[in-house]
Amino acid sequence: MCGIVGYNGKKNATEIVINGLKKLEYRGYDSAGISLVKDGKLITNKEVGRIKNLEESFDFSSLNSNNAIGHTRWATHGVPSKINAHPHVSNDESIAVVHNGIIENYVELRDELTEKGYNFKSQTDTEVIPNLISENYNGDILDAVFKSIDSLKGAYALGIIDGNEPDRLIAVRHSSPLIFAIDKDGYLIASDITSVIEHTNKIIYLEDGDVVDIREDSYTIYDANHNKIEREILEVDYSSQDASKEGYDHFLIKEIHEQPKVLRDVISVKHKDYKINLEDAAFTKEEIENFNKIFITACGTAFHAGEVGKFAIEKLVKVPVVAEIASEFRYKNMFIDDKSLVILVSQSGETADTLAALKEAKKHGAKVLAITNVVGSTIAREADKVIYCYAGPEISVASTKAYTTQVISLYFMAMDIALKAEKISQDEVKEIIENLEKIPSQIEEILEDKENFKEIADEIKDAKSIFYTGRSLDYITAKEGALKLKEISYIHTEAFPSGELKHGSIALIEEGTPVISVATQKDVLEKTLSNNQELTARGAKVISIIENNNVFSKDISEDIIEIPETMDLLTPLLAVIPEQLIAYYTSLLLGNDVDKPRNLAKSVTVE
Ligand code: F6R
Repeated sequence: MCGIVGYNGKKNATEIVINGLKKLEYRGYDSAGISLVKDGKLITNKEVGRIKNLEESFDFSSLNSNNAIGHTRWATHGVPSKINAHPHVSNDESIAVVHNGIIENYVELRDELTEKGYNFKSQTDTEVIPNLISENYNGDILDAVFKSIDSLKGAYALGIIDGNEPDRLIAVRHSSPLIFAIDKDGYLIASDITSVIEHTNKIIYLEDGDVVDIREDSYTIYDANHNKIEREILEVDYSSQDASKEGYDHFLIKEIHEQPKVLRDVISVKHKDYKINLEDAAFTKEEIENFNKIFITACGTAFHAGEVGKFAIEKLVKVPVVAEIASEFRYKNMFIDDKSLVILVSQSGETADTLAALKEAKKHGAKVLAITNVVGSTIAREADKVIYCYAGPEISVASTKAYTTQVISLYFMAMDIALKAEKISQDEVKEIIENLEKIPSQIEEILEDKENFKEIADEIKDAKSIFYTGRSLDYITAKEGALKLKEISYIHTEAFPSGELKHGSIALIEEGTPVISVATQKDVLEKTLSNNQELTARGAKVISIIENNNVFSKDISEDIIEIPETMDLLTPLLAVIPEQLIAYYTSLLLGNDVDKPRNLAKSVTVE
């Protein structure tokens, strides 16, 4: 989603900002722009499409500057266009603003400013901000920003520069992520770490309400009450190599292949000699006994991981768990109270719907446990306890290694609770962990079979619709397979519980409709196979994902994908790998932008 980069210092800000924007491309965007101060004058340029278009639009080499802000826009208010792209500039062309988030009261503010004589060219909510600051300007940009943000409602991370005060860059963080980074020769602001890490690993994760007044060689941070405040400078362990493709054609395939290594690492940190080690994230026996309800909430792929977590807790702890997608969680009566445990799952730790669910849970006094990949993210900071996934940076929009590490983290959490609640024994924990330890090499085995997945992709790539089916835990894996395929192939793909098809959806099956059947759960296998017979009888081309000891389904599947055998509870970790590969190769064959699928954003920071 929208990305912000800004630099104020001794180096060439123009170059730093353009390169920084390129690093944010993975977040998803439709237009880009930059404003810089040169000889006391504000210069702004914006283009629709890729950053390459912006670079080619004018001669940046002659535009060295020490102070610049840039933006990648993912359209919310108004179509992708040059006018709607950021930065937005005040009518007097002195103040430029880049914004991530949504200004909820922009109509009201725009009407007030229009009455005062301001003109608005764009359809955006953002354009009110530079004009509001201009209206409040009295010779000091910080003072004008303070006055202006007091009238803004909604979520906003802002970068602001002013032609009248060319050595100042103001950054604001309010319910939208923004980091501040300290380099030897200057300062950066950015939506995330990927665009600053090649310059410095000294990062301040700004808090909600923070405003930073950045000069070329000094900075001052103010809190939500506009009082000066010190914030901790963290030295972040993240290498710029993490954000490169390292010889792979796409980040997606690189990240799929990283799973064996990443999973090995995650499993090894979550236990010592088969004794679970969740460090500070573990609940005590007393806390566990005090919980009266358990909820899991998340969005998209992270929600599917959450549903596997629900299954694991219900199986191991033997208590019911309510799983609800985060965008619904906030607006439903979930009956949360101060004895509830609410578990949030989020790769980025910045997803607006998940964050809103967190706030809702806290409002009711619940304990909040976050399972996230990004250290220092808003969700990690606001939750009571955090289990980190340690997947490393996930750049491709379609989530793969974050999913499998989320699932592993949830298994460990479920085992820890079950053990403390005396619902399983240490021997049972050891058996599950021993099976988990085999998973990385079992994934390696699946990854060796690339040609098979390319062939399947070729067979399904022209389909009008594709269905994924499964029962019980396999239905969750089917949902993840369908999401992965549709988001990067753009083929309509839906997941159904195998037994539900005959209640209506089987009407969609035509001669040759591909159906990918996930059939790993032994207790429901025969029933799944009967459902596949029903599909085959109606012309569906069934492709089954089965464990390699399973002989039954070979007769009724046109294609078989065999995965190594594991405990039923752990099959989501293996069955998802063919799904990821099928999605990758299908998208590739269709010529799509694999890492940056249309309309999507990596970090969804608006509700
Ligand atoms: C799909 C995908 C999304 C995310 C969802 C939540 O491949 O990546 O569905 O899972 O947007 O994002 P996070 O996990 O960052 O909260």
